[in-house]
Amino acid sequence: MSDPQAYIEQHKDKFLDELFELLRIPSISTDSTRKEDIRKAAGFLINQLKSLELSRVELFETPGNPIVFGEYCPYDDKPTVLVYGHYDVQPSDPDELWHTPPFEPTIKDGNIYARGASDDKGQSFTHIKAIESFVKSGQPIPVNVKFLLEGEEEIGSPNLVPFIETHKDMLECDMVLISDTSMFGKDQPSITYGLRGLAYMEVEVVGPNRDLHSGVYGGAVENPLNVLCEIVAKLKDDNGVIQIPGFYDKVVPLTMADREASAALPFDEDSYKESLDIDAVHGEKGYTTLERASSRPSLDVNGIWGGYQGEGAKTVLPSKAGAKISMRLVPDQNPKEIAELFKKHFESLAPDTVKVKVTEHHGGFASVTDLNFYGLKAGAKAFEEIYKTDVLFAREGGSIPVVADFKRVLGVESILMGFGITSDAIHSPNEKFSVQDFYRGIKTSARFFELLPDFSE
Ligand code: BES
Ligand code: MN
Ligand code: MN
Repeated sequence: MSDPQAYIEQHKDKFLDELFELLRIPSISTDSTRKEDIRKAAGFLINQLKSLELSRVELFETPGNPIVFGEYCPYDDKPTVLVYGHYDVQPSDPDELWHTPPFEPTIKDGNIYARGASDDKGQSFTHIKAIESFVKSGQPIPVNVKFLLEGEEEIGSPNLVPFIETHKDMLECDMVLISDTSMFGKDQPSITYGLRGLAYMEVEVVGPNRDLHSGVYGGAVENPLNVLCEIVAKLKDDNGVIQIPGFYDKVVPLTMADREASAALPFDEDSYKESLDIDAVHGEKGYTTLERASSRPSLDVNGIWGGYQGEGAKTVLPSKAGAKISMRLVPDQNPKEIAELFKKHFESLAPDTVKVKVTEHHGGFASVTDLNFYGLKAGAKAFEEIYKTDVLFAREGGSIPVVADFKRVLGVESILMGFGITSDAIHSPNEKFSVQDFYRGIKTSARFFELLPDFSE
């Protein structure tokens, strides 16, 4: 047999078995007790790459989780594609809300249910299998290819950016190929050409030196939890506009063309609301839901705590309160600057009856891919051949901060060719990935590699 597409068709069960093996490994990067599973997942991928007869396969240690690298670059006259993906996953909790065990992949109604099925083990595995379809069917791999698979994406890639900076030559390429985003809808392939950036903050508000009786002290001593809520309430106005001075200074406004392109996408607000069981959407005045969720900045409390949360009622005035607050950013906002502006503003809103502490977690820049880049055109053609329908180009609201770093350090564009869909429930209980899209993803990837040389000329 000499046709990669036929090889894919004939090895579907094997591909699924192998993906299941990877999905069974709880490689949760936020959980320090899972270090061994992280290594196991990295080792699994190393073995996968070794089976492809690449010219180099190497596990790189970092101060955190290892980086898996592989390459096959025999051609002087063909483009080099760097495939990026992440083998770490989010925690599975709350476990009781899963209908099947998160690390025992289960097929139901044509979907693979497991943590990481879509984000990002299932999606990134498609490219390994696509390369396998050339090697094992006796066809030359059509382009130069490199793999860069990390284990810290879900914790902000703290060691990947320094790695890219110190391995610039090794990672030299013409483009990055990433499958870690969503298609516009079921059976509606899309290429994501923009991602939001991120600035993630934690705040603490401290009042009296201990929890107090709310009858004895209430009304006379400041309640840090009240203060926290008051400050949070002031972070946005009634029109959903973020009130941090300077926050919008570097925001590149949406052009008429941006807005028309977004409005032309087949977005159905009613089914959007229905899928979330909400009666109304909410956001910055003057923008559509799609714009709000993809190309305008946002600010959200991710978690808030303090005081009594147990059964029944305890009359208590808490001594401390805290919250995790994230801001999604758009070009050209700088995450460090935004974190500074947030800190200054938050501190300025605090009354002198409390002390506040504002700290910064990870962050990253937004990115927008040049729509004229030839790699996107090859990606679109591959999608169209396999999905037999037109491809849409859309921006998405999630963040893959390393995309901006690839551009800054390596000077290349990224092609975000997602095979997941928004309802895959990534980061949520019952994450899933369509079996059919797993296979179509492998086929699309293989076609992309075949088509790419023609587009680069
Ligand atoms: N794959 C997601 C990002 C994503 C999801 C992009 C959906 C587009 C559509 C990625 O694994 C992720 O979860 N990123 C984090 C950021 C990171 C710095 C922790 C995010 O967006 O919250
Ligand atoms: Mn991901
Ligand atoms: Mn994720």
